[in-house]
Amino acid sequence: MNTALADPGMLSLAAGFTDTATLPARAVGDAVAALVGGEGPVEFLQYGANRGRERLRRQLAARTAALDGPGAAVADPDLTIIGNGSQQLLHLAISVLADPGDIVLVERPTYFVFMEMLGGLGVEPMGLPARPDGALDLPGCEQMISALGASARRGRVKALYLMSYFGNPSGISRTEAEKIALAGMLERAGLIVPVLEDAAYRDLGFAGTWPARSVLALDAYRAFPRLYLGTLTKPFATGLKIGYAHATERGWFDRMCWLKGHEDFGSANFPQAILEAVIESGALERHIAGLRATYAAKMHALDAALEAGGLRALGWDWARPEGGLYLWLRAPDGIDTDGEGPFWRACMHERVLYVPGSLCLAAPAERRFVRLSFGVLAGDALAGAAARFCRAAASMAPT
Ligand SMILES: Cc1ncc(COP(=O)(O)O)c(C=O)c1O
Repeated sequence: MNTALADPGMLSLAAGFTDTATLPARAVGDAVAALVGGEGPVEFLQYGANRGRERLRRQLAARTAALDGPGAAVADPDLTIIGNGSQQLLHLAISVLADPGDIVLVERPTYFVFMEMLGGLGVEPMGLPARPDGALDLPGCEQMISALGASARRGRVKALYLMSYFGNPSGISRTEAEKIALAGMLERAGLIVPVLEDAAYRDLGFAGTWPARSVLALDAYRAFPRLYLGTLTKPFATGLKIGYAHATERGWFDRMCWLKGHEDFGSANFPQAILEAVIESGALERHIAGLRATYAAKMHALDAALEAGGLRALGWDWARPEGGLYLWLRAPDGIDTDGEGPFWRACMHERVLYVPGSLCLAAPAERRFVRLSFGVLAGDALAGAAARFCRAAASMAPT
């Protein structure tokens, strides 16, 4: 991958980067000018608190509560932690919960960096069966869990990781009914494990907010310790690298804070102060409103270019997501999409990069999927990358 990226002519549909042209330079510039030009103390250039700035934690908790709608059990600022991206918080959360040999339940497909992180900690991802449309196959999940029986492996299941808003890579969101049914099934099975709900793309719905409330607000999850993770990197300034998490359980939360103290005793204070100002001024919500249209247009551009390149006629299939940054493609029979395989090499020949789908799948990791991102490339480069991908696919078709 690094060798490929060193080639300036390579077009990458692989990286989960955001759209560079729409990064909010003006809003960040205004916030910085106001901070450094003010009369007050420059405390934001000092070390900050381990958990993160109090005002930002309050703002973010209020924002999550507002997304969950009136009457929702609110996210608690005192159980909110700011991290160096939500990635750091995912790592802290799992480090606290799981030991090598433990198991975490994940969706199929799921966020591949999370799976790599589990691998690094010696933790096994176990995929919840899914239907072809991406919905959870609840009878299949129930069967899988009952097959664990009363074995020692069952006791090793330490958490459930869910991406219920415009998931990476599936683009799928979960309905409340689906989330409630999942909680009910786990409760009946006696598997009350901590639930991590990763809402990294919640703000990136093309038509607005996805209607389902988070696990923080759903009664069905009351018995489960929960951690809701959000980020400001995807919907705002990626390079400020600020993410956050709201917990429901003090013990888990305190251990995450303790570990964070050992790692860095607090994420950088200055980006947090910038984000406080940006939220206060309304610039965050204005930016998100514009981004929805940007990513909707880019998704349609990639989709249209793949259609125009004849990919469906070659037997490839994909759904158009309603948000997020990715298309999840299923290759026709006989195409192996793994890295270094013939299809990969055809793409290298065309100088286009993708993420092999097997990286996103807990075992058994089928090798016929591909993740394409419409985040970073734009305009001719996005269309050109799609055309290259289609040419690579056509080169594999029987003649
Ligand atoms: C599903 C998901 N969760 C979490 C993250 C981490 O994001 P960040 O550390 O930028 O907040 C990403 C990044 O791509 C992601 O796709």
